[in-house]
Amino acid sequence: MSNSCKKVYITTPIYYVNDVPHIGHAYTTIIADTLARYSRLIGHETFFLTGTDEHGQKIEQAAKQRGKSPKEYADEISAKFKNLWDEFEISYDKFIRTTDKEHVIGVQKAFEIMYNKGDIYKGMYKGHYCISCETFFTETQIVDGEFCPDCGKQTTIVEEESYFFKLSKYQDKLLAWYKEKPNCILPKTRRNEVIRFVENGLEDLSITRTSFDWGIKLPKSINDPKHVIYVWLDALMNYITALGYGTNEEKMDFWPAKVHLIGKDILRFHAIYWPAFLMSLDLELPKHIAAHGWWTRNGEKMSKSKGNVINPKEVANIYGLENFRYFMLREVPFGGDGDFSQKALMDRINSDLGNDLGNLLNRLIGMSSKYNEGKISSCDVKKFFAKELGEVETIIDSLEEFVFNMQLNKYLEELWKLLSIANKAIDTYQPWNLMKNNQEDKALALNGLIANILAKVALLLHPVMPKTTQKIAHALGFEISPNSYDKYIKQKALLEDFIIEKIPPLFPKIEKELMAEPSKTQKEQTPKKESKKESSKESGIITIDEFFKTELKIGTILEAKEVPKSKKLLLLQVDLGEEKPRQIVAGIKEWYKPQELINTQVCVVANLKPAKLMGYLSEGMLLAAKDENGLSLLRPEKPKQAGTKVS
Ligand code: MSP
Repeated sequence: MSNSCKKVYITTPIYYVNDVPHIGHAYTTIIADTLARYSRLIGHETFFLTGTDEHGQKIEQAAKQRGKSPKEYADEISAKFKNLWDEFEISYDKFIRTTDKEHVIGVQKAFEIMYNKGDIYKGMYKGHYCISCETFFTETQIVDGEFCPDCGKQTTIVEEESYFFKLSKYQDKLLAWYKEKPNCILPKTRRNEVIRFVENGLEDLSITRTSFDWGIKLPKSINDPKHVIYVWLDALMNYITALGYGTNEEKMDFWPAKVHLIGKDILRFHAIYWPAFLMSLDLELPKHIAAHGWWTRNGEKMSKSKGNVINPKEVANIYGLENFRYFMLREVPFGGDGDFSQKALMDRINSDLGNDLGNLLNRLIGMSSKYNEGKISSCDVKKFFAKELGEVETIIDSLEEFVFNMQLNKYLEELWKLLSIANKAIDTYQPWNLMKNNQEDKALALNGLIANILAKVALLLHPVMPKTTQKIAHALGFEISPNSYDKYIKQKALLEDFIIEKIPPLFPKIEKELMAEPSKTQKEQTPKKESKKESSKESGIITIDEFFKTELKIGTILEAKEVPKSKKLLLLQVDLGEEKPRQIVAGIKEWYKPQELINTQVCVVANLKPAKLMGYLSEGMLLAAKDENGLSLLRPEKPKQAGTKVS
């Protein structure tokens, strides 16, 4: 990511108003805030956008459940997001709401342009729709004929008149873009995932709905009042309507966005649909779409039913907002999943912040007060410590690249090397001995070295910990600003003489966990309450006990026949060594003929809750592996007795 453009536009996703803010929202917003602060500090004109996504069936349903109108409900939750970001001092330049008038006009304008260009046509949509993900799925994508492949929740069948966007038309152009701009999707592993998806073929996208109301109407010129615009088309457009697209286009010179920060779950919308819409509108494509991973808590997925959702406000109040910011950015490599535990947070605070940074400042305050009444000068630093200064500058020169490649954890890791240089210099040169051995000049120059390292660290850490670093800067007699950044980082200047201010320790040691963990009773209720979404989307490691909850057995297929009227299903009678055979409905008809299955062995999930498929009770599930060459059943290498346990 080059740093040449002077106008920098950074966005977060706009958050659905069906839920209050949690750590996932805070994480995206804090990364974006850090990038925006960094961009301003290095002197770029920056526009940072966040906001709320308020239309669609999910919000309409959530409002209804609470006996409120969708707008009333959206107002309430949108304010919660805005208030939290204000409390967190998130430095956004605009908070957009998709119910804002300007946004509505901009979306209609975009729809009209795409329509007039011939990229939108009217047809009939029949398929599955997941309300929770607000996503359409084809028959082949859906799991077990009815479940969402992304969140695992039950989908509904939608059959209605719809306008379609010619997404298929943009397939080659999209592939060319991914190829031409290898950094357009970060981290790069995600880019490969998107390329594979697009190479498998894109179908045109249904972009209007008629079965509910809560959305933006089509432009008047199209005159089709029963349709509302699909919520993802509506939402994605926020990135340009916030700059005035379709209304007052003054800020459109911030386009294209430097980076859209998102979570990995919404990559497809941003990396496929969004650039295709932009191509249709003849607008430039964003420079980067950066997808971060998900947070778990103590190794478990967070969910309301488990009562383990982390409230970012609680963490910030208890452990300190800026400590929390540092932790989130330092703890996980961008793109990877992160685990929140109080222990990990305390370790970061006590060790990185307390020992490495806070103690260094305390030592400097102590030494300079003792040796020179708090006076610190840089005049002899180069003379005595040219090697250390050289190392410091080399590290600093390599830092910027990490920010713009989204490797903030690496950025912090490298930044901490400056602190090691300083801490090591104290241990190596032992200023107390220098003072004793008539080398006062060198001892005082060492204080100068430490002060300069701390000043540079404060400037470079400022986007992550704005207030704390300002306190450090004050103690060192300067203010953090784009000017001081230019002077001390870019021009590599050293601090002028100053008297250090004695400030109380910045990171008092935290001795024990300060936040109540979700109660055991709540946790024990989990299996009962857990929805299919939670179990199917569990991303963490499982214990051996959890694995053995699944009873896997070898079964012998006794009978096999087709399920009438089904293109996919076969009806099997499988001997699992029990009193009578189990009836299993399996979606394998495309790959196996009934006759060839009889008397063969398979691997069966034997303790799955029975379910009805096309009216037939299914009392188990066969294990199989599917790739682009088709599906294969998993079978024992040598014949085994029916009912043999698989482990
Ligand atoms: N409204 C859409 C975005 C539209 S952008 C044009 C949406 N909203 S959301 O509120 O459901 O999610 C917003 C962001 O929160 C996503 O980027 C998602 O990845 C992130 N997170 C939600 N839960 C999360 C975790 N547990 N951990 C990290 N981030 C997660 O999607």
